[in-house]
Amino acid sequence: MPLTIKPILPGFGAEVSGADLTKPLSEALRHEILDVQHEWGVTVWRNTGLDDESHIAFSRMFGHLELAPRPRPSRHRHREIFDASNLDAEGAIIDTEATRLIKKGDRIWHTDSSYMEKRSAYSLLLAHEVPPDGGQTWFADTRTAYEDLPQSMKDRLEGLVGENSYWWSRKQAGFAITEEEIDARPSARHPLVHVHQGSRRKALYIAAHTRDIVGMPREEGRKLLAELTAHATQPKYVFAVTWGVGDLTIWDNLCTMHRGGDFDVARDRRDMRRTTVREGAPPSEPDDPFADLYAAGAAPLSQPAPARPS
Ligand code: SIN
Repeated sequence: MPLTIKPILPGFGAEVSGADLTKPLSEALRHEILDVQHEWGVTVWRNTGLDDESHIAFSRMFGHLELAPRPRPSRHRHREIFDASNLDAEGAIIDTEATRLIKKGDRIWHTDSSYMEKRSAYSLLLAHEVPPDGGQTWFADTRTAYEDLPQSMKDRLEGLVGENSYWWSRKQAGFAITEEEIDARPSARHPLVHVHQGSRRKALYIAAHTRDIVGMPREEGRKLLAELTAHATQPKYVFAVTWGVGDLTIWDNLCTMHRGGDFDVARDRRDMRRTTVREGAPPSEPDDPFADLYAAGAAPLSQPAPARPS
C-alpha cells in the first residue's frame, strides 16, 4: 500500500500514514519511507503502537544507533533509548534545578549532538505519556531558510566553519560554567552550510551548540550565528507537532533545527523516548559517544550532566 503524505508546510514536514511500523518492512517500503524522509525533513506518524523494542528495530532501518549515556540509574533496559522524559528511575516526576535547566536548554533551537565529530543524522522521538494538552515540539526548515538567503549572505557563508560545544548550549540554558572552562573541553567543527545528502539541497547547520565561527572575532561570529538562527526560525519556516500517545516524529538533524515546547515540568508527566541514528558507516564497536565526552569534561559543573543530552 503506498504511503499517504499530508504536508504540514509547503515542502517541509509531513504527516505520513499507510505503514505498520511495528512489523518488519519490505525493502520497497523502506525505500519509500527513506525517500519521504529525505524530501520532507520531518515526518510525523500518529498512533504507531510502537514499544521500546519495535521502536529500536524500526530505527535501525535509518542506520546505526547511538548508545545513550547512563550517568544515573535509568528506567530503560536498552541503551539505544535516550530518556527525554521528566521522570526518574522509579517513574516519579523529577523536580530539581538541573531538570529545569535541561528543559530550558531543550527549548532553545538546536540540532542533536552537533558537538560530536560524527554528527547525529536522524532522531526518532516516541511519545509514551504526554501532558494534558499533548505538549509540543517545534521544527525549523534549514534548507529553505538557506535557499532564501540573499546571494551576498550565501557568498559570506561560503567555507565558514562553526565550532560546536555541548557545554556552550548548557551555559546558555543557565548552567554555571565559564568560557575558559568551555575552552578546555572538547568541541567539534562543522561547516555552517553543507549539502544535505538525501536531497542534494544545501542546508544551514547551526544552533544552540554553535559557539563560535572559526577564524572570526568572537563577537562578530556570535552576531552572525544569532542572525542566521533568527532568519531560519521565522514563522514561515517553522511548525509544531502536538503529541498524542504512540505518536512518532522522525527528524533529520542535517536539514532541520528543533526545540521543545512549554509544559509544566514540575507538574505534568511527559514520557518521551528517543533513538538517534549517527551519520556515516557503522563503527566496529558499539557507538557510545557520550562516555568519552563526559570523561573529557571531567571538571565538575555545579549541576550534573544531564542523563539525556540534546
Ligand atoms: C529534543 O530536544 O531532542 C526533544 C524535544 C522534546 O522533548 O520535545
